[in-house]
Amino acid sequence: LSTAAAAALLAVSATGAVAACDEGEMVIKFSHVTNTDRHPKGIAANLLMERVNAEMDGTACMEVYPNSTLYNDDQVLEAMLNGDVQMAAPSLSKFEQFTKVFRIFDLPFMFKNIEAVDAFQASDAGQEMMQSMARRGLLGLGYWHNGMKQLSANKPLNEPGDAAGLKFRVQPSEVLKAQFEALDASPQPMAFSEVYGALQTGVVDGQENTWSNIYGQKFFEVQDGTTETNHGVLDYLVVTSTDWWDGLDEGVREQLNTIVTEVTNERNAAVAEVDAEARQAVVDAGGEIRELDDAQRQAWVDAMMPVWEQFTDDVGQENIDAAQGINA
Ligand code: LMR
Repeated sequence: LSTAAAAALLAVSATGAVAACDEGEMVIKFSHVTNTDRHPKGIAANLLMERVNAEMDGTACMEVYPNSTLYNDDQVLEAMLNGDVQMAAPSLSKFEQFTKVFRIFDLPFMFKNIEAVDAFQASDAGQEMMQSMARRGLLGLGYWHNGMKQLSANKPLNEPGDAAGLKFRVQPSEVLKAQFEALDASPQPMAFSEVYGALQTGVVDGQENTWSNIYGQKFFEVQDGTTETNHGVLDYLVVTSTDWWDGLDEGVREQLNTIVTEVTNERNAAVAEVDAEARQAVVDAGGEIRELDDAQRQAWVDAMMPVWEQFTDDVGQENIDAAQGINA
């Protein structure tokens, strides 16, 4: 173990999140960047670990490393290709180096809610996207939901003009950069683990994220308030390396795949509840939430939607039409 990995292991062991693996068991490392409670990904990853460790005892053992303790999202896919980690669930905005198909999920106001996202992902087009990186060595095993994104800054954001001139942290996505440029704001790609500090010190003025991330990272503490825009979606791809996956014994692969699918279905069905609880937790902790009336919301739609045109070729008009058909 490297010093960093050993430190991470110790840190995670203190929270009880890492299971002790027995001699002879295949170790499956799952690395992610969020907190573990009141968080869709944190809860799903821990449930996956519990089930693998109970049902595949003696064969396989999963260790979950949350909170960027092992890798950031910009490192984890390389680490996976090197065989240093076997599973992760980065947001769909984090695959730019590998594929452009997921850009559809970043386009603002493309999906009206998480049910629409779910239906699109379940369609043939959505299922095929999970294979889109196979020749680059990465395979999607399922989509995990988080929720719709909200917008916050160190000043009130009521209309699109309020964002002009501000710096916003973005995930490393060309679509998200273009979205903030459309607001005459300045996008700053940054790792998730660095956002709180950057907001606190004024390196950036604002950010966009879901309620569970805003709550989990306490962004509301260092922002003026959060505007409930629901302007985009943040969802995850459970991803593994094709080499590792193809190298598993067939029975092991099938059992693991079944567990992943069952955990995916169970936790995705519960995501609205986790999202609502995180939103309420922000309120309870004193975070200010600004709701938009219809006219205000339409102004954000009008300001952001022109971004679609820039990415139609990447995502395919037929996929945009399919997504819009689901919204209707
Ligand atoms: C972000 O970087 O804001 C998110 O992708 C973090 C996460 O995993 O939810």
